[in-house]
Amino acid sequence: MSATVLDGKALSKKLREGMAEEVALIAKETGRQIGLAVILVGEDPASTVYVRNKIRACEEVGVRSFQYRLPAETTQDELITLIRKLNADDEVNGILVQLPLPKGLNESAVLEEINYEKDVDGFHERNAGKLFLGNGGLVACTPSGCMELIAESGVSVSGKRAVVIGRSNIVGKPMAMLLLNANATVTVCHSRTQNIAEVTREADILVAAVGRPNFVTADMVKPGAVVIDVGINRLDGKLVGDVEYSSVSEVAGYITPVPGGVGPMTITMLMKNTILAAKQQWK
Ligand code: GUN
Repeated sequence: MSATVLDGKALSKKLREGMAEEVALIAKETGRQIGLAVILVGEDPASTVYVRNKIRACEEVGVRSFQYRLPAETTQDELITLIRKLNADDEVNGILVQLPLPKGLNESAVLEEINYEKDVDGFHERNAGKLFLGNGGLVACTPSGCMELIAESGVSVSGKRAVVIGRSNIVGKPMAMLLLNANATVTVCHSRTQNIAEVTREADILVAAVGRPNFVTADMVKPGAVVIDVGINRLDGKLVGDVEYSSVSEVAGYITPVPGGVGPMTITMLMKNTILAAKQQWK
C-alpha cells in the first residue's frame, strides 16, 4: 500500500490565500500594514535561501518586509543594538533572526533581546514557557506547521502514541509539547536512545527531526502511521529528508515529502505568527 502524501506546498498555498485576504482586511480597517524584520548574519547558503523564501512569502500575503543582511563579522553588541531599534519600531510587528548565527555570536542571548511580543519564531523563553504551560503565545513555526500537516491527515492526535526523533529547542522540544497539549502520549528519542526502532514502531504519529539523511527506514515505522519528515539534507546534490521516502511510503498511512512538505509550512506559520503578533500589538 502506498501512503497518502501530505502536500505542504498545496496546504501552504491555501492557507496563504486566506492570510492575504485577512491582511488586506486588516489594512482596510486599520489603515496599517503589518511588518516583519528579517535579519541574516553571514552568508550561509541554506540560510540565504530560507530568508529569500520568507521575504517572498511576505510579498504573497501582503506583509511588509524589512531585510537586514549583516556581515559574518557583526559583533554581539551591533546585533543587539539593531534588535533594540526594531523592538522600538512601531512599523515592525515581528522580528526574526535567521539561525544558525556565525561563530562568536551567542544565539540564546540574542534571541532573548527580541521583545517576546515580536518573537514570531517563538524562540524567546517567555513564548517557550507559555507553550510549556499550554498558555498560548507565539509557537515555533516548524512544529506548528507539522501540527497543521498532521491535522490535514484527518488522524486525531488525542490518545495516540506520538514519537518525536530529535530534541532541539527549535523543533523537537516544542513539537513534543504541542503533541502533549493535543493529548497524545509522547516519547522523545535522541542520539542516546537505545533500540530506537522499537520505540518508533509504537508510533501512530512519527515526527523525524534528526538532521540525518534517510535515518528513518521502513522497519522503524508502524503500518498506517502518520510520518512527518522535518529533515532537509543535501545528499549527492539532492535534497532528502530524515525519512527514507521510497520504502517508508510503502508502510506509512500518511507521509510528508521533501521538498514540499514541512518546509513551506514553516514559512506559512511564520506568516500566521506575524499576523497574530500584529493583531495582539494593535488590540
Ligand atoms: N533556522 C532553522 N530553522 C529556523 C527557523 O524556524 N527560524 C529561524 N529564525 N532560523 C531557523
